[in-house]
Amino acid sequence: MFALRPRNLKVLAAFLFVISVTSFMLNYIEHLGSINWYPEKYLSSFPEQIKRLIQPTWRPCSCARCISEPSLSVWFHERFNQSVPPLLTKHSTIPDDVYHWWLKLQVEEKPKNLSKALVDVFELIPGHSDFPAPDAFRCRRCAVVGNSGNLLKSNYGSIIDSHDIIMRMNRAETVHFENDVGSRTTHHFLYPESYIKLAENVTLVFLPFKTLDLQWLVSALTTGVIRFTYMNVPRWIDTKKDKIIIFNPTFMKYVSDIWMQGHGKYPSTGILVTIFALHMCDEVNLFGFGADSKGNWHHYWEDIISLDFQKSVIHDSIFQTNVTKMLSSINKIQFFSGR
Ligand code: C5P
Repeated sequence: MFALRPRNLKVLAAFLFVISVTSFMLNYIEHLGSINWYPEKYLSSFPEQIKRLIQPTWRPCSCARCISEPSLSVWFHERFNQSVPPLLTKHSTIPDDVYHWWLKLQVEEKPKNLSKALVDVFELIPGHSDFPAPDAFRCRRCAVVGNSGNLLKSNYGSIIDSHDIIMRMNRAETVHFENDVGSRTTHHFLYPESYIKLAENVTLVFLPFKTLDLQWLVSALTTGVIRFTYMNVPRWIDTKKDKIIIFNPTFMKYVSDIWMQGHGKYPSTGILVTIFALHMCDEVNLFGFGADSKGNWHHYWEDIISLDFQKSVIHDSIFQTNVTKMLSSINKIQFFSGR
């Protein structure tokens, strides 16, 4: 006997739903000509109740693998902590231990009051995250594009551009390098000294490494009075205020302590963005990290002798590479090593 228990009702509803979709397809498909059928796209627009009925509750996303789903790697699950907030908002507080750690990153003689600096920033920008929320019917595919010279002649451009979210950092340019680095950017991570002008549709993810950086952001959007930090910085930026979000110092310390295990003075932009992406995406593919095939650690837009990321005394590039290689070996990211 088929009793009307909640579980049976769910099965019945799912069955009816499948029949409806199938008959819809059979009836209308010939009128539609060729259609693109992306189940996750259509399903994510269903009402919550229906979603919950058919939702495979054991999967947090619709990709082949989801970063946040349980895996066999103890190493990963000991580190990955989804309770650490990646972005600062109007209502964020910075714990004392984080503040004292953060104050030592780029020492300022007389740092201004941080709470006041944050109030000033969030009076100016809304600071709302524009990253899509996790959803069982969505696959958030992200490309994290570092600045390594190994991108040259890689032909990765179209693969990079195929991602939903494309994160670049610092002085990364795409013009003239489209074939190797792609042309789309959704999020660009930078700080005052690495500022470059961004296209209008790109979100600026601002990395504050000192209180003056937050003051610079306010100044650059209003009076233009700050023109020097430890080097000359642009007086003005033309990014729209609602396209600016702020990287959380608490997340920086989490990357430093937990992922980098204290190696290096503080984490590089590259590893900060990589771990940020683990928290914001379901699938992460890494491009432009590490040496090229000849062992050079330069930028893809500069000649070989201009920079050697590996010789940095602030960041530990070897430990960072080991972390990314480990993430790749346990299939949490895919590492594209370039040429
Ligand atoms: O040099 P920059 O910090 O702008 O580069 C962005 C990131 O790209 C670095 O923080 C680093 O993680 C990565 N990178 C790399 N190998 C290079 C150059 C940069 O892994 N040769």
